[in-house]
Parts: sequence; C-alpha cells; structure tokens
Amino acid sequence: MTTLAGKVAIVTGGASGIGYAMVQNLLEAGAKVGVADLNEEKLKELEQQHKGELLGVVTNVTKEEDIKNLVNKTVEAFGGLDIAFNVAGASKSGAIIDQPEEDWNFTVDLCLKGVFLSLKHEAKYMKEHGGGAIVNVSSLNAHVPMHYGAAYSSAKAGVEMLTKNAALEMSKHNIRVNAILPGLVSTPLTSGLTDVDAINEAYLERIPMERAGDPKEIAGPALFLVSEEASYVNGASLLVDGGWAVTGYPDLSKFITENRP
Ligand SMILES: NC(=O)c1ccc[n+]([C@@H]2O[C@H](COP(=O)([O-])OP(=O)(O)OC[C@H]3O[C@@H](n4cnc5c(N)ncnc54)[C@H](O)[C@@H]3O)[C@@H](O)[C@H]2O)c1
Repeated sequence: MTTLAGKVAIVTGGASGIGYAMVQNLLEAGAKVGVADLNEEKLKELEQQHKGELLGVVTNVTKEEDIKNLVNKTVEAFGGLDIAFNVAGASKSGAIIDQPEEDWNFTVDLCLKGVFLSLKHEAKYMKEHGGGAIVNVSSLNAHVPMHYGAAYSSAKAGVEMLTKNAALEMSKHNIRVNAILPGLVSTPLTSGLTDVDAINEAYLERIPMERAGDPKEIAGPALFLVSEEASYVNGASLLVDGGWAVTGYPDLSKFITENRP
C-alpha cells in the first residue's frame, strides 16, 4: 500500500463517483485532502466524517477565483500541497448541428477550462515549494468519439494534450503531470444510461471484460501515478477501460474451426 503520510492533496469533483474514491484512497494512504466540489452538503458530511484530515471547499472549477481560494485554503489548513487530482466533469450532450452554444460552453468550460485553471494554480504553488504530482482525468472519449458527445469528447481530448504540455513545461519544476482515461465506470454520471437494460447491453458488447469499472478501479491507478513508484512516469495517458480501446476489429474467432491450419 502506498504511503502518503505527511502529504497534502487536492481532489476536484471529490464529493462523488471517481473523485470520491480517490479521496478515500488518499485518506487511507495517510494524506490530508482538500476536496473541491459544488455539492456543499456532501462536503460538510465528509468534513464531519474525517475531522482534521479533510477540508471541504465549495468550488466551481470554471471560476479562477474559486480555484485560487481552493489552493489557499488547502495550504492554510494543512501546510502545503504535494498532489492533485483534477476530476470534476460533466456534459450536456447534443448533435453538433443542433447543439446550443451554451451547452457547448458548459461542457468545454467544465471539462477543459476547469482542468486548466486547477492545474495552473496547483502547479504555481508546487513550483515554489519543491514540486509535486498531478493527475488529470480525461476519458476513453479522448480517443473514441461518441454520438451526441462532440463537446465532451473534444474537451477530454484537450485534457489529454493539456496534460502533455504541462508535463513538458513543468518537469524542470519537479512536477509530474499525467492523465488517466477511464472507460465506463459505475457512478451517478453514467447511471442514467446504464440503468436502461438495452443501453447497458450495448455498452457491455464493447468491453472485453464485459462489465463497467468500479470507481476504486480508477482511483487505484491514479494513486499509483502520484506515488514514488511512478517517479519516472510523466506526460503519460493511462487508459483504464477494461480493454475497451483494443476492440473494433471484427471478431474472427467465431470463424476459426479446430481443423484450421
Ligand atoms: N463515469 C464514467 O464512466 C467516466 C468515464 C470517463 C471519464 N469520466 C470522468 O471522470 C470524472 C468524474 O466523473 P464521475 O463519473 O465520478 O462523475 P460524478 O457525477 O459522480 O462526480 C462528478 C463530481 O463533480 C462535481 N462537479 C460538477 N461540476 C463541477 C464544478 N463546476 N465545479 C466543481 N465540481 C463540480 C459534481 O458535483 C460531482 O460531485 C469526470 O471528469 C468524468 O468526465 C467518467
């Protein structure tokens, strides 16, 4: 088990799903955590459960002042910042020819600008204080387009490239930046789709492991990326998708008989 005793972390979007699993892992590893989210009620509940180890900071990641406040409050409470997981995300879907500009802006602002602003202010602090490690949450959709998901997929592809640029710029400040690209994960974000049997089946047909991932199965690899074990991993994109990205070629196994040479 990775030890992060004495370390301080930030998780954006940490009140639910993948972000929440990351918060749990960080606490178990001994880190103190500043959790950023819009969900004030859940943040208060988490603070009560983890007094002295977790600080909830109501934050809209699309607002630069909120991000500055998040970094300041976390540093004030716990004395530093070593690790950040930039997770907050959601989308408004729509066909390209019908998508209102405000839905595009909502999605790209949250998924891409939100990561930019978080990264900017986390790294600014880390640069002045000896370095750190940052993981940005992109998506399988950075590589695989989806119907009605142009804004989301484009933003997530942007997060992957932003991560590479950050790794290039920040290595000299002893800051490592990597991206994690989840496939289908069971969270409140996806339950509206996967609760519909026909949609769930359509998903599972694409996933060699024939199931969605659990948020813990994303949080574990993310923890590895910020740990000492990953000290030479930088600018990488780690797909965590149950093998989804290797599908697409026709399944020829059903045509192969035992008599085949
Ligand atoms: N669940 C999946 O299948 C999946 C797959 C690939 C990528 N992802 C990405 O993983 C990340 C987490 O997704 P999840 O499935 O855990 O979703 P989730 O809905 O369970 O959690 C997202 C959290 O982000 C918070 N949030 C939303 N807008 C915010 C804002 N403006 N400022 C601060 N916080 C905000 C929400 O309140 C929520 O707590 C997202 O970036 C998502 O795009 C998810």
